[in-house]
Amino acid sequence: MRKPLIAGNWKLHNTVEQSCQLAQALVNDLSDVTETEIVIAPVFTALSEVGKICTESPVQLAAQNCHCMDDGAYTGEVSVPLLADVGCSHIIVGHSERRQYFGETDHFVNVKARAILKHGLTAIICVGETLEQRESGELFEVIAAQIRGALEEITAEQMAQVVLAYEPVWAIGTGKTATSEEAEEVHAYIRGLLHGSFGTDIASQCRILYGGSVKPGNISELMAEEDIDGALVGGASLKAEDFSAIVRFKK
Ligand code: G3H
Repeated sequence: MRKPLIAGNWKLHNTVEQSCQLAQALVNDLSDVTETEIVIAPVFTALSEVGKICTESPVQLAAQNCHCMDDGAYTGEVSVPLLADVGCSHIIVGHSERRQYFGETDHFVNVKARAILKHGLTAIICVGETLEQRESGELFEVIAAQIRGALEEITAEQMAQVVLAYEPVWAIGTGKTATSEEAEEVHAYIRGLLHGSFGTDIASQCRILYGGSVKPGNISELMAEEDIDGALVGGASLKAEDFSAIVRFKK
């Protein structure tokens, strides 16, 4: 059985102090949770302090991005070993905002994912189509290209450290959630791709999260779908009450 995973992507929000307050509230609220994996992704500048707050709690720390090289002359970048050093166990890559605003390609996502896996961290790899791509009938083609591109040269063994996140771009921050049926259709398709590339065991073990306007009010319906194993939450992860309610979704 796949253990549900709820991840909060705080995006470009919160000072160090605000991040610590939010993290502390979550650590207090969620200390008893064992049946669902919990991950939060603050801004880079807050990782170190938030990491200290999360130590010995079920709340795990993620970075929202990383560079593929371990060190060197790469001004402004942060490497996987440095993120591990401040307590990160997970790193998000390929988020549509990075693809859209920073020109990240499937190849670049793949190079970063391989760097994350090389260092034994978990890569949360995001894929998703734009509204235009969905409406022009390219949905499955786009998803297949993103999944294949992101997973190139990743071994079956490394797949244990990979979490996928399906985030339709048109549902991110818009209040417009994909219906649970729409999301399930894509999740099942992604699992089929994994089956083709890695076989039954990997396909059935890999967790696929849904992201896009997830709220306390729609999480249970999404989680009831067979191939939806958790959520990557943006806006609603900024309020401790809402994020805790999502983590404690009713089965
Ligand atoms: O990483 C999270 C997603 O972009 C979803 O954001 O929940 O604000 O729609 P949202």
